[in-house]
Amino acid sequence: MHDRVAGRAVLPGHGYGTEARQAVLHLAFAGLGAVCARSASFLDNASSLAVSRKVGYRPDGTERDLRDGEPVVSQRFLLMREDWEHSQRPQVLVSGLESCLDLFGIDGGAQTE
Ligand SMILES: CC(C)(COP(=O)(O)OP(=O)(O)OC[C@H]1O[C@@H](n2cnc3c(N)ncnc32)[C@H](O)[C@@H]1OP(=O)(O)O)[C@@H](O)C(=O)NCCC(=O)NCCS
Repeated sequence: MHDRVAGRAVLPGHGYGTEARQAVLHLAFAGLGAVCARSASFLDNASSLAVSRKVGYRPDGTERDLRDGEPVVSQRFLLMREDWEHSQRPQVLVSGLESCLDLFGIDGGAQTE
C-alpha cells in the first residue's frame, strides 16, 4: 500500500481529535493491513502533538515546512503496527470497506473489527 495522508480539524477540547485519530488508525492497521502510520505536527500545535503521543505515536525526527510562506519546524511521528496492536484503544467497527478497497489501491484488507 502506498502512503496516504489525512488532515484533521475538529471542535477542539472534547476528545474528538483523539477519537478521530484512533478510528483512522484502526482503519489503516486492522482494515487495510498497514505496517506503520506516520504523522507530523507543527511544533507550536500543542493539542495535535498531545493527541499523537496519546494514541501511541513515537517521535521520528523533525522536518521543515512552510506555513503561510514562513519556515516552521514540524515534529514527525511514527507508529509501528506492533506498538498499535499492544496499545490500549477503543473498539472500532469498520463497515462497507470491501467495496472501497480499490480506492485505497489495494486488493484486500485484513479485519474490520
Ligand atoms: C489538533 C486537534 C485535532 C485536537 O483535537 P481535540 O479534540 O482538541 O483533542 P482531544 O480533546 O482529543 O485531546 C487533546 C489532548 O491534547 C491535550 N492538550 C490540549 N491542548 C494542549 C496544550 N496546549 N498543551 C498540552 N496538551 C494539550 C489535552 O489535554 C488532551 O489530552 P488529555 O485528554 O490526555 O487531557 C484539534 O485541536 C484541531 O482540529 N485543531 C485544528 C486543526 C489541526 O491543528 N489539526 C492537526 C494538524 S496536524
